[in-house]
Amino acid sequence: PIPVIIDCDTGVDDALALLFAVRHPGIDLRAVTCVAGNTDVDGVVRNTLTVLEQAGAGDIPVARGAARPLIEPVRAAHHVHGLDGMGDLGLPAPTRVAVDVDAVTLLRREILASPTPVTLIPTAPLTNIALLLRTHPDVVRNIERIVFMGGAVATGNATPVAEFNVWHDPEAAAVLLTAGVPITMYGLDVFERVVVPAADVQRLRASSEPSLRMAGELLAHRDPATSGDPTPTGGLGDAGAVCAVVDPDGLTTELLPVEVSLAPGPTRGQTVVDRRRRPGESEIHEGEREVTLVDVGLDVDVERYVKLWL
Ligand code: BDR
Ligand code: CA
Repeated sequence: PIPVIIDCDTGVDDALALLFAVRHPGIDLRAVTCVAGNTDVDGVVRNTLTVLEQAGAGDIPVARGAARPLIEPVRAAHHVHGLDGMGDLGLPAPTRVAVDVDAVTLLRREILASPTPVTLIPTAPLTNIALLLRTHPDVVRNIERIVFMGGAVATGNATPVAEFNVWHDPEAAAVLLTAGVPITMYGLDVFERVVVPAADVQRLRASSEPSLRMAGELLAHRDPATSGDPTPTGGLGDAGAVCAVVDPDGLTTELLPVEVSLAPGPTRGQTVVDRRRRPGESEIHEGEREVTLVDVGLDVDVERYVKLWL
């Protein structure tokens, strides 16, 4: 199995990602770290522990991370994920607690302890990851790849051009993009397309197995008609990024230069993806800046990922 660490802001769709990662035999989920995003970091820790417990995940270590972005204030997404950050489904409180070290410490420990290089899957604002890369750059030698949910080639969601995770902490995303690690960007362009058909959602909701029922409730909770949230009910969201680790062939990517806009104003948090690039160029220079090449997800085999996740 692939050694994986998920850094999340659970989060309805982060929960769908965790459920899948815990259950897929091709994944060895070594740790989960939490960061402020969809809700405050303590809420994220609680939600994460609940999901892992409901999934029968055993004692996978969970750590509390950054309570706020590097520079921006905290801006939760309660309009999308409910007041508790996880759809207000009335899920039970966890019986376990987080480990007594912070997320950055746990990330370093687990990355360096792994016998084979770890794949990191951030499905949240990139604050913890930026702090890790700046505090302990030695971790890079044992990171296989960072497959992050964030960014957008075309349209944003938090703003017309910026996706929520990058918009929430643009400086942190910029640190990630210049870290010198292989990166896959699972952005909004593919994220929004992977939707579980309504009949499957209903089947899950009717299941007698608690974690399947929870998955169904999570998939069903978003009703664009009433919530004003344009994401269709049934969206796998962050879970698609985990699918991309298990089954990379289901995601069509192109190696493209990506930069984050850090300017104040309407473009802040936009991932500027340069699609003009000609094949064969290995380094991109924009004036003084060297721009990182990222494997950007441009197309996704929707049926394949839905089937895989189900
Ligand atoms: C991202 O923002 C969060 O609300 C979701 O969990 C996902 O990670 C989508 O923009
Ligand atoms: Ca998320």
